[in-house]
Amino acid sequence: MSGDEVDSGKRRFLVAATTVVGGVGVGFALVPFVSSMQPSAKARAAGAPVRVDISKLEPGQKLTVEWRGKPVWIVSRTQKMLGTLDAINSQLADPESRNSEQPEYISGVDRSLKSDILVMIGICTHLGCSPTYRPDVAPADLGSDWEGGFFCPCHGSKFDISGRVFAAMPAPKNLPIPPYSFLSETELMIGVDPKETA
Ligand code: FES
Repeated sequence: MSGDEVDSGKRRFLVAATTVVGGVGVGFALVPFVSSMQPSAKARAAGAPVRVDISKLEPGQKLTVEWRGKPVWIVSRTQKMLGTLDAINSQLADPESRNSEQPEYISGVDRSLKSDILVMIGICTHLGCSPTYRPDVAPADLGSDWEGGFFCPCHGSKFDISGRVFAAMPAPKNLPIPPYSFLSETELMIGVDPKETA
């Protein structure tokens, strides 16, 4: 043997695997947080009062706005409509609205701050359907003594033009009245009592 053994077969080379890190990512960091701010703004808006311009509301017309996820009706009532209210009392379950959901500053048969403008939550007190506005007098489907009001198609509850339920209907109570106030002759604020806007 020569003794000269040369291990030439196996050599290991450690190659440093270098990766270029850096310069990436900073520009993306700010974007995702913008959208995460949106829900709280929406949540605040959901409970907020709603301003309504009623300057274009004609006598007899109904306007619907949304407040706290509920439909709120604003009806411009004519003198003829208001003239039916006293006469109809004996046919109603709660003509004085003693068991109704309504602010303490709402009273009387007209259930409103100004009798020609009705503001009411359009949800039936039976099982929560939305009644239809039926201002027509004596239509075939509601009978010859119908003077105009609201009719719930789900189970047939009838309400007068102040949202007072007729006797012996599925709905146990009159339609609710929300807090509201007038900012001017032509502008309402739904969700705020008059003393808060005075
Ligand atoms: S939900 Fe209106 S009558 Fe039943």
